[in-house]
Amino acid sequence: MHSVIPPRTTPLVVDTPIILPALLLCDFGHLADEIKKLEEAGAKALHLDIMDGQFVPQLTYGKVVVEAVRRAATVPIEVHMMVEDQDKTAIDYANTGADIVTVHIEGLTRPEDTLATIASTGVRAHLAISPNTPVSDVEPLLSHCDGVLVMSVEPGFGGQVFQPSAIEKIRRLHELRTSQGQDFYIGVDGGISTKTIASVSQAGADLIVAGSAVLQQENYAHALQELEDLARKAR
Ligand code: DX5
Ligand code: ZN
Repeated sequence: MHSVIPPRTTPLVVDTPIILPALLLCDFGHLADEIKKLEEAGAKALHLDIMDGQFVPQLTYGKVVVEAVRRAATVPIEVHMMVEDQDKTAIDYANTGADIVTVHIEGLTRPEDTLATIASTGVRAHLAISPNTPVSDVEPLLSHCDGVLVMSVEPGFGGQVFQPSAIEKIRRLHELRTSQGQDFYIGVDGGISTKTIASVSQAGADLIVAGSAVLQQENYAHALQELEDLARKAR
């Protein structure tokens, strides 16, 4: 069931925004149950944060866990790489069965080559930009990637406060997409809540990552539904 994020060979259809729960704050002792719960709650895709304790302070998990999630999940998976040497390791994550591999522009020395390597596996190649990185840094690469993930917090931890500077970046990307007739997803990650989701959706975000706003709530279905409704109304 890969319908909401179509294969990279097909044109992008962006009608309603998709919420991607970030597994970072889930109960990893019951990973398969958590995935099932999220899918039953209506999650249409999942976001996995790979951190190595060097590119960002926290250490999470790697390829083996992504493969386990792939086996347990039926919805598409985005892998968000926050590790050193992404030029070298992106291919390993592209081969996990993920649908999107997102690499940080700040962590790449050969962005075009790395995006092409990911794309050669049939996986969507997205570029992430941290709060201090301007959209102009990825502008020349827009035709080489399938999406841009705007970080609305400093990468590294869940549960941080949303940085409103992300809104202008999403708006700019949306403008570029429209004016250049380009075909890429616009994502946003960090501090998304019932208070902030409308602003990013209105600015043009298609893939909206939500960690604590879903995983730290009693009722995943209720949390997802509320976020989705707010995102949809803001369009
Ligand atoms: C932060 C991660 C996010 C995080 C989101 O570095 O990239 O995906 O899990 O968590 P919230 O939504 O709680 O900010
Ligand atoms: Zn993330």
